[in-house]
Amino acid sequence: MTGRFPQVRPRRLRATPAMRRLVAETRLHPAELVLPMFIREGATDAVDISSMPGVQQHSLDSFRRALVEAAGQGIGGVNLFGVPTTKDATGSGATDPDGILNVAIRVAKEEVGDDLVVQSDLCLDEFTDHGHCGVLATDGSVDNDATLLRYRDMAVAQAEAGAELVCLSGMMDGQIAAARDALDVAGHTGTALLAYAAKYASAFYGPFREAVSSSLVGDRRTYQIDAANGRQGLREVALDVDEGADVVMVKPAMSYLDVLAETAATSPVPVWAYQISGEYAMITAAAQNGWIDRDAAAMESLVGIKRAGADAILTYFAVDIARELNQEAGLRTSGTTAAVAGIASTGKAPE
Ligand code: PBG
Repeated sequence: MTGRFPQVRPRRLRATPAMRRLVAETRLHPAELVLPMFIREGATDAVDISSMPGVQQHSLDSFRRALVEAAGQGIGGVNLFGVPTTKDATGSGATDPDGILNVAIRVAKEEVGDDLVVQSDLCLDEFTDHGHCGVLATDGSVDNDATLLRYRDMAVAQAEAGAELVCLSGMMDGQIAAARDALDVAGHTGTALLAYAAKYASAFYGPFREAVSSSLVGDRRTYQIDAANGRQGLREVALDVDEGADVVMVKPAMSYLDVLAETAATSPVPVWAYQISGEYAMITAAAQNGWIDRDAAAMESLVGIKRAGADAILTYFAVDIARELNQEAGLRTSGTTAAVAGIASTGKAPE
């Protein structure tokens, strides 16, 4: 700065909405948003999830309607979780072709399979009576390698139901290699794998436990990463890439944006982030109290996640935000003076 006043004035690029729009480095698009959905076995109507206002456990009918709505807004995919009526020690419902998650995959493929990517959660926690992501050894610990055998069968069951992207969220060592091998042996070489690679043990999963009617007592700290550790997250990502992950994910998003940014800087495969239940619940609850603007806060949180490096984002706001983005785009293309002027001056329609 020379003299009494600044010569460099960053405010110039913030002066008008048009200028701010032009210089924006980060844009959201509906196609990069994925909606997580819960399908409850035996439900005749959708059931509200009290800790996630606006999110429901779907009946098969309400699920179909929600899928059509999601496809109509042009989001990229749906990520399915099953809520079974019965659970047991090994989570048999997960590998039963008539288990709720496998049924939901088939329904989604049939209803919107041409428009959306159908993703399935591959983890045992929704299906086990103890609520852990794997099967237990006799001493009560989660048995890594016995769990891999269950995951192999689950991967094949989901691929057979039609899942295009099988998403492993259980944080067992070697789970990506195990699922890849099982799929390839069964001839499902075209089924892609998403690794919840850097998945942290988080207090923000709270509302999800209600969403899937979880039976968990205790915590998942022997398999999910401790919040204190960035290096472990990066190592998990590297291992999953080596094992054949087609996409890697960092989860949760908000408290782990540094891990996301570092992963995005080096990963050879797409990097996604999961804005989880607690992140959704906090924004929604504050908005319900009149303390923040829901849509603006949701948009800002997602722009932040994308700016940090996410190529796509799993978020419970997916359809709402897509609708907002589409409305904004619609306002610009429908009969605006700019569009008309474009035709008049160039003789052809603007792109
Ligand atoms: C476990 C799983 C969890 C979530 C997705 N998959 C919960 C957990 O690890 O305890 C959390 C998603 C969310 O909170 O939105 N299969």
